[in-house]
Amino acid sequence: MVDIAERFVDLPAGIKPFLAAPPDDVIRLTVGEPGFDTPKEIVDSAIKSLEQGNTKYTRSEGSLELCTASAKRLYERYGIPATPESIIITPGAKQGLLYTFMVTCEPGDEVILLAPAWPSYDIQCRMLKLNPVHVSVKNDDFHPDLSAIENAITDKTKVLVINSPNNPTGAVYTPEEISGLLDIAIRHDLWLVSDEIYARLNWTNWEHLSPSSLKGGAERTIVVTGWSKSFAMTGWRIGLVCGPEKVMKAMGKLQANACSHIPSFLMDAAIAALDSKINDDVEFFKQEYLKRRKILMEGIGLINGLSMPEPEGAFYGFVDISETGMDSTTFATRALKEAKVQLIPGGLIDGGEGFVRISYACDEESLKEGLARIEEWLKPN
Ligand SMILES: Cc1ncc(COP(=O)(O)O)c(C=O)c1O
Repeated sequence: MVDIAERFVDLPAGIKPFLAAPPDDVIRLTVGEPGFDTPKEIVDSAIKSLEQGNTKYTRSEGSLELCTASAKRLYERYGIPATPESIIITPGAKQGLLYTFMVTCEPGDEVILLAPAWPSYDIQCRMLKLNPVHVSVKNDDFHPDLSAIENAITDKTKVLVINSPNNPTGAVYTPEEISGLLDIAIRHDLWLVSDEIYARLNWTNWEHLSPSSLKGGAERTIVVTGWSKSFAMTGWRIGLVCGPEKVMKAMGKLQANACSHIPSFLMDAAIAALDSKINDDVEFFKQEYLKRRKILMEGIGLINGLSMPEPEGAFYGFVDISETGMDSTTFATRALKEAKVQLIPGGLIDGGEGFVRISYACDEESLKEGLARIEEWLKPN
């Protein structure tokens, strides 16, 4: 009987099983999605664009207007030397990452991931017959361990993937760490893939730093980002890749033959999101996340057996549950059944055993109630 490709047979499901919609009485602290509506100006511009007839095929890299606005934004905000030609607008950052692995690697190449890493990197690598190599971050603050990374490099290593602010740990790498990571990529002649999708959600007192903005960075860094998290636009599926010319030329051919382009009328909405008018919305979202982050830190502090390094960015807390004596899957399974709270077990992610991920992107009431339920559940008898 004819069968599917072998590499898809045992492909891990990632965190998906714990993201399934639970019964109504369950509080979901799982979903990595802003608990806000997309700002109205953005929605209106998509509607207007549709009404104006932007329903035809267009430039596959993304409209020149959108690529120009995106390049300007990347340069002005982060010092990334982007040009309209160095940008491709993709159906979400996720697909941008898949393209990135496709155009930079050959089957059998090794890709270094800083564990625990967002699970799709690992799964995408496996889909392409690449070998993900998980190098643990430091276990007290989830920051990169530069010498461990250096030790993991072999003659098959092609790519180093970094993600700051980080999902699932909430770590934000310091400028020194970012330049140390770039230095490793330069010395070992690697591509540096920098997933900067949470760049606006940084709660530290150091600025988000893109390796692409540093000397020697732009020629080997591929920045992947998108509209989902900053602008509450997860369902719109708009992402961006910005990289060196040869990468982007190859990716242009790839996207043209894979999906042509994102929906034409969404390009105007993506431009509207970059307008300074939307800054107030983004600032409002940020202030709300900060409030929820405080609730999370205070709540975890009250719960018997749980601890968590301060979440520095994005909207996740990575909570140490090891003192409870449960492994993370048991913890999350029992929390769902007994406390009626849905959490992501860290054990589903390489290097994440002993932790659960809590998203504080949900509304404040759900977060408070979810934490109260966990506290009650773990109270000693
Ligand atoms: C680290 C990271 N990168 C990329 C993505 C994908 O974002 P998009 O919605 O643009 O595909 C996510 C979404 O959860 C993420 O957490």
